[in-house]
Amino acid sequence: MPIAATISKEIYKPHLEVKGGYSLSGELKVSGAKNSALVLMAASLLTEESMRINNVPLLTDIEGMAEILVTMGVKVKRSPSCIEIKAEGLHHAELPYELMAGLRASFFCIGPLLARLGKAKIPLPGGCRIGARPVGEHIKGLKALGAFVNVEHGSVIASIPGARKRLKSAHIVLDCPSVGATETILMAAVLAEGTSTIENAAQEPEVQDLAQMLNTMGANVQGAGGPKITIQGVEHLKGCEYTVIPDRIEAGTFLLAAAITRSCLRVAPLIPEHMSAVLQKLRDCGCILEKDGDGMKIIPGEIRGVDITTQPFPGFPTDLQAPFMALLTTAKGTSIVTEKIYENRMQHVTELQRMGASIRIQGSTAVIEGVPELSAAPVTGGDLRSAAAMVLASLAARGSSKVEGLNHLDRGYAEIENKLNQAGADILRRQQ
Ligand code: UD1
Repeated sequence: MPIAATISKEIYKPHLEVKGGYSLSGELKVSGAKNSALVLMAASLLTEESMRINNVPLLTDIEGMAEILVTMGVKVKRSPSCIEIKAEGLHHAELPYELMAGLRASFFCIGPLLARLGKAKIPLPGGCRIGARPVGEHIKGLKALGAFVNVEHGSVIASIPGARKRLKSAHIVLDCPSVGATETILMAAVLAEGTSTIENAAQEPEVQDLAQMLNTMGANVQGAGGPKITIQGVEHLKGCEYTVIPDRIEAGTFLLAAAITRSCLRVAPLIPEHMSAVLQKLRDCGCILEKDGDGMKIIPGEIRGVDITTQPFPGFPTDLQAPFMALLTTAKGTSIVTEKIYENRMQHVTELQRMGASIRIQGSTAVIEGVPELSAAPVTGGDLRSAAAMVLASLAARGSSKVEGLNHLDRGYAEIENKLNQAGADILRRQQ
């Protein structure tokens, strides 16, 4: 390839051009939760009957998951905010590496495949930019439920021994409250024989959402949302219609968009109980938050520095660590942000520094001295939430920023520039 062509391909990547410094006003609309929708799509494999899931966001991750379901013989019909799934023809127990590689959440299919077909072969998701992301707890749970599980040639191969091809109940204590492991075990145990328990279970709202949909399908799951979940296995699940909860991470990002631009905004819909830790930190920063129907009104005051440590729910979510740090770079005083969930989730720091932020890193802790103003720069979001942090910082920065990393951003934020522009931002998407 000629050198000029190589260079232009390198330089011109899809990006957002964000003109900073505008106040926002009006309302930002929150889509359905990505992390719920993905697992609910996998759970739809547990029945042969028709499933209709409403409030499914328009995201590349969701379209990727739909494609994976189709390759397994499942009928999928997509309309703007709803997805219909009929897994009557589910026949293929192997997931192709090519589709799986970009979408870790496709590992969720392992439990339903085992429960429906008695076998599954799924490529190991491997690590990603933010950390190693092991699946040992998922495998431990499936083994406890009676599955044979081996890792061979980069894939997890699981099967149920015996003629009846039904998993058996188990008492499982997780080493850590993994969201994915809790969901995998839940989906495998609902059709198992007998009553299972998961202790040290993840308490995230998405786990509660999954349990609620499974119960609507005829399962008997108690205690989801707490540390101990009890699952009384049933023989059969039926189809249902279900609506995904609002995305608490997108809602948090939008509240931060208001705070970083010092703008009064309404963000809706959201469920305050799903985001207590984030709302508390915003209040600690100096924002006034008022419940307003199905949403929240935010009135930012002078923003002060706060300390944040990421934790499993109900603690502060790791997925809002980078976006919140963008706000703290503009706060008065010092903030200390500690990442406890992932070992490599500080990639946004160097990019924020390029915009004039004052941040020192000590291991997984960032010490941030607020500056009066950020200045626009070309920046790249190296993972989904770093990309969101770059958009937020650009909204506040003086000048026009070029934000790359849209392949990450589009995984988790539906039509972000349209939503922000409707509230008064000036963001242009350029494909090259
Ligand atoms: C989910 C979310 C992700 C969020 C994360 C933590 C989805 C699709 N993704 O990811 O956005 O950042 O929860 O809130 O819902 N761990 C182990 N062994 C395991 C599994 C996990 O040690 O077998 C560790 C991980 O390394 C990590 C921690 O547990 O340190 C949390 O991971 P987990 O809750 O499993 O995250 P995910 O379900 O992958």
